[in-house]
Amino acid sequence: MARKKIIAGNWKMNMTPSQAVELVNTLKPLVANDDVDVVFCVPAIDIVPVVEAAKGSNIQVGAENMYFEEKGAYTGEISAPMLVDAGVKYVILGHSERRDYFKEDDALLNKKVKKAFEAGLTPILCCGETLEQREMGIAVDFIRTQIKSDLVGVSADQVKTMVIAYEPIWAIGTGKTATTEQAEEICKAVRDCIAEVYDQATADAVRVQYGGSVNAGNAAELFAQPDIDGGLVGGASLKPDFGDIVNYKK
Ligand code: PGA
Repeated sequence: MARKKIIAGNWKMNMTPSQAVELVNTLKPLVANDDVDVVFCVPAIDIVPVVEAAKGSNIQVGAENMYFEEKGAYTGEISAPMLVDAGVKYVILGHSERRDYFKEDDALLNKKVKKAFEAGLTPILCCGETLEQREMGIAVDFIRTQIKSDLVGVSADQVKTMVIAYEPIWAIGTGKTATTEQAEEICKAVRDCIAEVYDQATADAVRVQYGGSVNAGNAAELFAQPDIDGGLVGGASLKPDFGDIVNYKK
């Protein structure tokens, strides 16, 4: 069965609540395309107004992070049940900015992934190598280690429903996109890793995105690759260009 493309915006730390509503209203008609899943991953404070503004549209809302505990004395954190109750469907976990600036490691991410599934959220799990790792020739090894560690104890049925985003760190926010060949090579390696740890049916079902300077000009070629099931889009998700990315086929 063909995998449905999933194109997700990652707003990062941009947009105040009122700006967020304005952006959703601007983008709503531009991203109206039922052939792909369209997700807006937004800052926590924007979730409630964005869910409201997106009502009646094809836009699904995602969070950019969450904590693995249900509730309690974890000042400043947000739990999976809180996200679900607010209308969130997806959650980005393990973005390289979280791994780097906030020191999130694979052991922590494994807890977050399991909690997301338990709560009924779909994780968008990020992986990706540094430029140094790529130049050393260990990009694939590194990504395989991330995926295997982050998915310990996660079942094949769960993996089938999730999204894995391959985002080379050197391509994020730099304007440097991986070449189509580089992106496809690693997205295929992600799928092969899933086939190895689980089975071919799971690997055929999991959706693998490419992320890192995706824009209206390169989306069509990237998304045409056999193992690239869409994109995780940062900078270009804050502009009308996001509509062109979602409609990359037209
Ligand atoms: P970018 O960010 O599209 O601005 O490179 C992608 C991401 O970090 O998810």
